Amino acid sequence: MTFELASRVRSMPPSATLAITQRASELAAAGHDVIGFGVGQPDFVTPSHILDAAREALTRSSGYTAVRGIGPLLEAIRDESLRRRRVAHDTSEIVVSVGAKHTLFNLAMVLYEPGDEVIIPAPYWVSYPAQVELFGGVPKIVETHEADGFRLSPDALRAAVSPRTKAIILCSPSNPTGAAYRREDLEALAGALREGDYWILTDEIYGELVYDGFDQVSLLEVAPDLRDRLIVVDGVSKTYAMTGWRIGWALAPAAVAKAVDKVQGQSTTNPTAVAQHAAVAALRGDKAPVAAMVAAFAERRRAIVDGLNAIDGISCREPEGAFYAFPNVTGLLGRSAGGQVLTDDLAVGKWLLETAGCALVPGTEFGAPGFLRMSYATSMDNIERGLAKIRAAVAELG
Ligand SMILES: Cc1ncc(COP(=O)(O)O)c(C=O)c1O
Repeated sequence: MTFELASRVRSMPPSATLAITQRASELAAAGHDVIGFGVGQPDFVTPSHILDAAREALTRSSGYTAVRGIGPLLEAIRDESLRRRRVAHDTSEIVVSVGAKHTLFNLAMVLYEPGDEVIIPAPYWVSYPAQVELFGGVPKIVETHEADGFRLSPDALRAAVSPRTKAIILCSPSNPTGAAYRREDLEALAGALREGDYWILTDEIYGELVYDGFDQVSLLEVAPDLRDRLIVVDGVSKTYAMTGWRIGWALAPAAVAKAVDKVQGQSTTNPTAVAQHAAVAALRGDKAPVAAMVAAFAERRRAIVDGLNAIDGISCREPEGAFYAFPNVTGLLGRSAGGQVLTDDLAVGKWLLETAGCALVPGTEFGAPGFLRMSYATSMDNIERGLAKIRAAVAELG
């Protein structure tokens, strides 16, 4: 017998971040001072009232729950979404999964046929194209530009649509750029979306993490007339520092929610019961801890953006949300370090790790060569030390 893995796995490209992460661990193990700016999760502890609710739930929730989630969680999601998006949903239009990544995976399974095109604006979160490809879909990557705030324009969207277009995946605020669509951008984009007949996925997992009074609005609020083909993806991971709890959800047309329920019923069944109770406490409970985290992120964002812009050869657009800065490092390309020329962002990432002990993720990983992603979900002390080390390393470049 020939031992072979399925072709869908064999064709998956290895993650470019892995090389940097692995090298960072090696350097740290060898006693070097390595500062990680790669993480995609808040560095805060889950707020205590959420932990209390989970402890309490431990004493009584040991059985399976409904596949799509417990009633109180579906109702809490419904109410929270109405507050944030001003569009009412029925609980039959909500399905909870094991994190928003699992939600997106389930959606990919129920929506895409082999050969279907899925429009993904770049820079993109790495899982979007990977999931589309897993189900035989074809990612149609559409470049966006720093000068346009990394926002997809209606004309770029129109040019990308084809008879094979099955869906588009939007993300605002975005991982990796932190860029968010303003109300007027969404209104303009909705005009182009209305001309098509494909699914619209809007990933709003960072929707609560916006700064400087940015008016965060959902595409759903701006274009409620699109709701028959619009699916909102959200979860507790980023807002409530609950990445490990694995609770995410979709607000979708009832038929889509039912289809996700059906496939999930053949895989994970329900998301962990205790985590669901914790998520109810997150959505219904005191929001002061969220405000405190947002204030801390806002302060770090200021420091990181100003610090990066003060370095010769690096420039950084001010991100509206999430916890990522996305510096442009094209000004460093062609310069040399220890006899080696920095040819691209991958080389810059490697050099920053080796020379400055700072681990950043190269933009190439997100379909955006010439940039690096720098997470500020780390302490102010790490940010200040990291910026000083990067500044010193750049000053030595030939
Ligand atoms: C844009 C985006 N969407 C979805 C997710 C998935 O979040 P989770 O599966 O933790 O709910 C992430 C996490 O990194 C993300 O950055």
